[in-house]
Amino acid sequence: MSAIPLRLLPDNSTIGTDDSLSIGGVRVAELAAQYGTPLFVYDEEHLRARCRAAVNAFGAGNVVYATKAFICGAMARLAHEEGLLLDVATGGELHTVLHAGVPASSCVLHGNNKSLDELRMAIAAGIDHIVVDSFDEIDRIEKLHADGLPLVRVQLRITPGVHVHTHEFVSTGQDDSKFGFNLNNGDAHKAIARAQSSAALDLIGIHCHIGSNVFAVENFAEASKVMVDLFSTLNLPGLTLGGGLGVAYTENEEAPTIEQWAEVLQRATQSLPAGSKVSVEPGRSIVASAGVTVYTVGTVKPIDGIRTYISVDGGMSDNPRPVLYGSGYEVCDPARMSADRTDSARIVGKHCESGDILVDSAAVAPNVSVGDLLVMPVTGAYGYSMASNYNKVMRPAVVFVSDGESRLVVRRETYDDLVRLDL
Ligand SMILES: Cc1ncc(COP(=O)(O)O)c(C=O)c1O
Repeated sequence: MSAIPLRLLPDNSTIGTDDSLSIGGVRVAELAAQYGTPLFVYDEEHLRARCRAAVNAFGAGNVVYATKAFICGAMARLAHEEGLLLDVATGGELHTVLHAGVPASSCVLHGNNKSLDELRMAIAAGIDHIVVDSFDEIDRIEKLHADGLPLVRVQLRITPGVHVHTHEFVSTGQDDSKFGFNLNNGDAHKAIARAQSSAALDLIGIHCHIGSNVFAVENFAEASKVMVDLFSTLNLPGLTLGGGLGVAYTENEEAPTIEQWAEVLQRATQSLPAGSKVSVEPGRSIVASAGVTVYTVGTVKPIDGIRTYISVDGGMSDNPRPVLYGSGYEVCDPARMSADRTDSARIVGKHCESGDILVDSAAVAPNVSVGDLLVMPVTGAYGYSMASNYNKVMRPAVVFVSDGESRLVVRRETYDDLVRLDL
């Protein structure tokens, strides 16, 4: 296998005359030396460029960043500065975003099982709107209104009955789903009627999200058609078509761009009355390829006739996607960027599980050795945000790099952090 293609790396990645990788003008080896590994490194200009691409394509006020993909104070502020609203799916995500200084009026609350406390917190803070997911949730909002909280703007999450080509764990638009009001069994119409007659809810639109890491634009077109047909009967201002745009994780994958996704949605919604507000909620496509994880190799174990295991200092605790979804990744050696990746190895973590696999069969530069760095590209989405402390492994630090400067935006956990909740 030849050297890793630059298109998998953050936009502002360069290879120096010494064959080393820099991101945002900072050598990866320097970042590893300064902040330690494992380390999440984000190219800040890449993040901003994807936010701007989405705002250019869909219009100001029509892009809601799905914070579940990656959130911390710096990311919340960046998305807000770039004019995106923020989709939060729990009280914890809302708290993180408010703590970062983003006003609740720039936030949208999601979730299939929002608690009374989460709803109260969001409404009291002045959330822009809530995407309501169930009849039980309507009951809870009505109770809060009866208790004195103000009328709240809502969209209703509709399950359009569309199957998408993605992993079943992240497919959400089919009838058999925990999310939303089913269109096909009449629940959606019942929910619309109930919301329209409720004194607690100001119905401002309908919403769907068919799944995540979707590559087939025809899936978006199909769901949009169903939603447009429904929306056209309702006389409401807003239609949200979710997120879900896939990204290329490996050399043989090719994903539509944000602009191509926008074209499909614009074509699907062109029959809507002028003034209809069509919004989207991208997460992965904003952050995934902006981020890489830097690991240090700790153990190399060749097993003759079977395979070589390369163990790194992180694993399923900083990136559970391979274990959860069988997701593929590539790796590269940031000191040997143009070397052909002629060896093959299984890249594994340090956890007490044989399933702790980061890349099942990775192409690597020859003779990877203990102490080498390995960079795993396209880990900017659903990596840090899904990280855990399994085996009491500390969560990595996160740095943003830009214009030759790096800044720590989330510090590495310490042993003290691991026991801070113990009583
Ligand atoms: C309601 C909703 N909107 C948006 C997203 C973001 O999806 P993605 O990161 O695939 O763009 C998700 C992710 O699951 C979601 O559940």
